[in-house]
Order: sequence, then structure tokens, then C-alpha cells
Amino acid sequence: MTYIPYNDRYDSMQYRRCGKSGLRLPVISLGLWHNFGGVDVFENGRAIARRAFDKGITHFDLANNYGPPPGSAEVFFGEMLKKDFRPYRDEMVISTKAGYYMWPGPYGEWGSKKYLISSLDQSLKRMGLDYVDIFYSHRPDPETPFEETMEALAQIVRQGKALYVGLSNYSATETEKATAILKSMGVNALIHQPKYSMFERWSEERLYDVLEKQGMGSIAFSPLAQGLLTNRYLIGIPEDSRAAKSHGFLQEKEVSDEKLRKIRALNELALQRNQSLAQMALCWVLRDERVTSVLIGVSKIQQLNDNLGILDNLTLKAEEIATIENILQS
Ligand SMILES: NC(=O)c1ccc[n+]([C@@H]2O[C@H](COP(=O)([O-])OP(=O)(O)OC[C@H]3O[C@@H](n4cnc5c(N)ncnc54)[C@H](OP(=O)(O)O)[C@@H]3O)[C@@H](O)[C@H]2O)c1
Repeated sequence: MTYIPYNDRYDSMQYRRCGKSGLRLPVISLGLWHNFGGVDVFENGRAIARRAFDKGITHFDLANNYGPPPGSAEVFFGEMLKKDFRPYRDEMVISTKAGYYMWPGPYGEWGSKKYLISSLDQSLKRMGLDYVDIFYSHRPDPETPFEETMEALAQIVRQGKALYVGLSNYSATETEKATAILKSMGVNALIHQPKYSMFERWSEERLYDVLEKQGMGSIAFSPLAQGLLTNRYLIGIPEDSRAAKSHGFLQEKEVSDEKLRKIRALNELALQRNQSLAQMALCWVLRDERVTSVLIGVSKIQQLNDNLGILDNLTLKAEEIATIENILQS
């Protein structure tokens, strides 16, 4: 059946400006790292993407290697664009990345111009797109001069293959260096994509200050610590969970007693707020306005609906933030 998105799709979502750019992103964005690959059920992913768009989620995040097998999430998404979203392309912000291993030989990973340019060409083909909205250098390359990696990003913008460029997994110092080079080439980096959640806080130390100074936005990946910061593992490891799947990136050993103690205490606090733990964990990441968006993954529509519930109560009180801090430090 032809997909017709909800007319009221922009009524409840909130949008934040991405740094000092002209682009606003939804506070919740959808990532296609897991659950949208060749090993997954296409109709499930398609239903999730439709539901997301119906609720004002305009931003969809991919990478060359998402799957498994690598590349299959882009093929999957290209199929969804063709079937459902083609008329709405201008309402969507689509991103992809290159940096991790994609093909054999010396040109299939890291940060050379050779790799980044050909990888984006492949991604565009897989998705059936003329351009992406954001192209990321997925990780810094310690062996390629930053000048070369940034020249590749600048060329991609000049050629119109991406409207904006971003950095992912770059430290604060690497970000300062990379953005200065890009600026000298006449290109402003739009956004940084760090891993950020209650359990992963490296970006708090200096990165957000650097981004603010540069006028860049940020989008937090794995804001639910891959599902740890939800009710998923409160009473064991469910068979259909990421930790139980052989291709899931979350290892069973990461569901440790130490973590579970904190997760259960956080869950109690969330219930007092009439929220799920997932909702409270997302509100916590978004408490700093320099975080433009949280980049969630979901395996089921119900999880997406639950996460959208934050729009009813996004604010954490100072004493709740302090209680969370105590639990995390305990
Ligand atoms: N730049 C990078 O290097 C990088 C690296 C990793 C990810 N990313 C991006 O970030 C996106 C999100 O990463 P992520 O999938 O790790 O994010 P996440 O939101 O931290 O974890 C997603 C998982 O949490 C569980 N979940 C989500 N909502 C839930 C809810 N309301 N209740 C119960 N469980 C819930 C689901 O687990 P189950 O599957 O077990 O149901 C889901 O698959 C990726 O898709 C990708 O776009 C970027």
C-alpha cells in the first residue's frame, strides 16, 4: 500500500538548531546500525522508519559498513526510499560515513582521500541517492595527514555529494585541528557524533566546549548504551536482545552485576518520574542544549513509541540530576 505520512507529523517533535548552522535536527534521530541489515526482517525496519517519519523524526543515520553484511543497511534504506520516502526526500536529513573496514586491500578503511571518495560513491549507489545531507569521517586516522582527510571532505561538499560534513569519534584536540583545516578550505564542519550516555561520558570533559566555540552541533550515539539503559536487561538477557545476538555489538559480559545495580537504581528513579528508564536516559543526554539530538536504535516499534514519550516530559529537575549522579558514582 502506498505510504502516506501523517499530516500532523511536525506537531509534537522538537527541533534543535545544529550549532550555529541553518539546519535544525529533531531531538530524536534514528540510527540504522543494527536491525536494518541483511540479517534482519525488512518489513520490521520499514515499519519502524515509517513510524519515525510519521512522528517528526526527519534524520536517519547510516554508515557504509552498517549491516551485517556491511553495506546492507544502505541497500535496505535505499529500498525504503524507493518504496515509501521518495516524495519526501526534501523533508529528510540522511547521513552516512566512512572510516571503518569496508573492503580488502589498502584503500578500504581509515581516512585516505582514495577511500573516502570511493566509499561515498558506493553509498550513494546503494541508497539510490544523488547526495547525502551529512557525510562523516567515521574515525580519525592516525597515519593519514588530517589535511588529506579534510581535503576529501571539502571536495565532497564542493562536488555537491554531501551538503554538510561531520566528524565522529574525534577527540576534542583532533576536532580542533580538523575543523581549523576545514575552515581554511572554506568549509564549516556541521556536527560531531560522539558516543554519549550515562555510562560513557568522555565528551563532557572538553569536547562540548570545543564544539560550542566552533559553532558545531552534536548528536549522541548509543545514548541508551546499546540497550543497557532500558528495562531490557533488568531480569536476565532476553533471547531477542542485542546482547544475545551473535552479530550484536553488545557483549553479554557487559551486562555486569556492577552495571545492573546502577541500572536498577536508575529504573526506580525513572518510575518515580512516571517514565521508563529509556526515557529518563534520553532526557539526561538532552539536558545539555549543546546536544542537538540523540541518535537511538530500536528493534521494535514499541521501543520507538516509548522513546518518543520523552516529548511529554523532557526536563529533569536539578535534584533528579544530582540523584542520577550519585547513582552513577556509587
Ligand atoms: N559514529 C559511530 O561510531 C557510531 C557507533 C555506533 C552507533 N552509531 C549510531 O548510533 C545509532 C544508535 O546506536 P545504538 O543502536 O547503539 O543506540 P541505543 O539507542 O543506545 O541502543 C539501541 C538498543 O536499545 C534497545 N532499546 C531502544 N529503545 C528501547 C526502549 N524504549 N526500551 C527497551 N529497549 C530499548 C534496543 O535493544 P534490542 O535490540 O536488544 O531490542 C535497541 O536496539 C546507530 O544506529 C548508529 O546510527 C554510531
